[in-house]
Amino acid sequence: MTEVAKIRQLQAQQVRQLRQLFRQGLASDFDYFPRDYLNAVDRANSAPRLLLAVIRPSRLILIAQQGRKLVGYTITGFESPGEAFLYWVYVDPKIRGHRVGRRLMAETLSRLKQRNIQKVRLATHDYVDYYRRYGFKSRPEQSFSIGPTKMYIMELQF
Ligand SMILES: CC(C)(COP(=O)(O)OP(=O)(O)OC[C@H]1O[C@@H](n2cnc3c(N)ncnc32)[C@H](O)[C@@H]1OP(=O)(O)O)[C@@H](O)C(=O)NCCC(=O)NCCS
Repeated sequence: MTEVAKIRQLQAQQVRQLRQLFRQGLASDFDYFPRDYLNAVDRANSAPRLLLAVIRPSRLILIAQQGRKLVGYTITGFESPGEAFLYWVYVDPKIRGHRVGRRLMAETLSRLKQRNIQKVRLATHDYVDYYRRYGFKSRPEQSFSIGPTKMYIMELQF
């Protein structure tokens, strides 16, 4: 990796690039989900919806960029007061293992704290150990399935 990635909030002019990276992620890393679920996720993260997230503060979308290229993102939604749900964390497979994920996570959690969020939840299929490193704890009683895919709920309290 030649250039250190910058972590910042998504800008309107980057929505098209984020869409491409998002669809790449669905195909490369989330193919354990049933096709109809992936289609619904794709629609829920259409370009107009991502653009709305830039304008309205109902979601926090942080991106990692190298030069002008988007190489990673986190997408968080705000739920009831004081609570957030971390929906997506993704880094381009070409640059994984260089701490871009760590920096995205650190910046996301720090911004959530600044917004007075006290509890962050997420659902994951196979990254339980990854999120443990950031202090997330499993809530096995809340696990659920999407088709054949088992999902684990994890929670972080600030
Ligand atoms: C999770 C992800 C964003 C991390 O990005 P990254 O830039 O490689 O992250 P970092 O370099 O900060 O951390 C890599 C570390 O995570 C570890 N790791 C990778 N996959 C893991 C997994 N499934 N479970 C536990 N640890 C994992 C690596 O072994 C590495 O460990 P090290 O720090 O001891 O070397 C990236 O692997 C990714 O995009 N994965 C596919 C998308 C995904 O499944 N996201 C989570 C969905 S809930």
